[in-house]
Amino acid sequence: MINTGATATCILYQSGMTDINALIAALPKAELHLHLEGSLEPEQLMEFAARNSVDIPFKNLDEVKAAYNFSNLQDFLDIYYQGMSVLQTEADFHDLTDAYLQRCAADNVRHVEVFYDPQGHTDRGIPFAVPIEGILSALDAGAAKYGISYKLIMCFLRHLSEDAAFETLAQAEPYLARIHGVGLDSSELGHPPSKFERVFAAAHAKGLKRVAHAGEEGPPDYVTQALDLLKIDRIDHGNRLLEDEALIARVRDAGLTLTVCPLSNLSLCVVNDLKDHPIKRMLELGLRATINSDDPAYFGGYMNQNFSQTANAVGLTASEIITLARNSFTGSFLSKEEQAPHLAEIDRIAASFV
Ligand code: HPA
Ligand code: ZN
Repeated sequence: MINTGATATCILYQSGMTDINALIAALPKAELHLHLEGSLEPEQLMEFAARNSVDIPFKNLDEVKAAYNFSNLQDFLDIYYQGMSVLQTEADFHDLTDAYLQRCAADNVRHVEVFYDPQGHTDRGIPFAVPIEGILSALDAGAAKYGISYKLIMCFLRHLSEDAAFETLAQAEPYLARIHGVGLDSSELGHPPSKFERVFAAAHAKGLKRVAHAGEEGPPDYVTQALDLLKIDRIDHGNRLLEDEALIARVRDAGLTLTVCPLSNLSLCVVNDLKDHPIKRMLELGLRATINSDDPAYFGGYMNQNFSQTANAVGLTASEIITLARNSFTGSFLSKEEQAPHLAEIDRIAASFV
C-alpha cells in the first residue's frame, strides 16, 4: 500500500504548498478516537454476512447505506450493534482492522489508539479471545506493513451494569500486557460516569490508562464526574463542557486532551451544521483539541475527510490545522521520545507551507 502522505510531503518540499487539502494530506497525524466496529463499511458488512451465513435485514448495499441515517446517538447505536452481528471469527476482526489501517495509511495517519467493545461480542456468545486475537494480529501486522504504531483501548458499554464491566475486566486479564487502557462508550444519557467509578479504579490498579466518552450528549456534569470519579487521562468528545466556564478553565489548565469527532457530531445531530462546530472555539480557548473519525463507516469519512470538511466549514487556518496535527501526538499515549520524530516532521512541513 502506497503511503500517499509521504508522497505529498515530497511534492511539498519541491514546490512549496499553498493548498489546505495538500497540507492536511502531508501532515503526519495520530487518530485517538476510533471504534474499530465503527469502521465496518457496508461492503464488508455484506461480505461478512455472506461468509458467516448471518441474516441481516438488508438485501443490498443501497439498503444498508439508506439505514445509515441518524438523528441521535441511540439511533446510531441500534444500527452499530446490529452491524456487529456479522463479526464472528478471528479472521473477521483481523480483516476489519486491516481495512481500517489501509485507510489510515492512505490518510498519512502514523499512530492509532483504537477502541473496541468486547461486551458487544461476548454478549452474543463470541468468546473474549476471538475479537482481541484478530484485532491484535492485524495491528501487529499493520505496524510492520504500514509503519503505523498503535495502542488498544477496551471500552465498557455504559448501558450495561457495573458487574458486567468487572466481568469484562476479569476476562481481559490474560491480555493486560497488550491492552493500554479502558474506555467508556455507548448510550451516555442516563448512564453517568459515577456508575463505573469502582471498575475504573480497578483498571487503574492494573496499570491501565483511563478515557471516557463524556459531554457528547450528556451534560457538563458528566465531564466533571469523569474527571473527579473516573480520573480520566483524556476526554472523548467533551463538546458540552463548553457550557461551563469553570470547567473550560479546569480542562485547559490541566492540559487534558479532547478527542473531538466533527463528522460524527454532524451525523448524530450534536451540531446541526458543520459550520457551527466548536472545534475552532476550542482551539481559541486554549484547549488541546484533536480531530478524529469515531465511526467512519457510519459517519461519512476517515481522518482527512474530517480535517478537510471541518476546515472548510469553520474556516480553520493552516496554523490551526498544524496545531491539530501536533495535538494528536502530544495528546497520545506515546512517550515524549516516540512523539519527537512526528513533531519534528510536522515542524518541517509547517516551515515550508506558504
Ligand atoms: N458515542 C458513544 N458510543 C459509541 C460511539 C459514540 O460516538 N461510537 C461507538 N460507540
Ligand atoms: Zn466514540
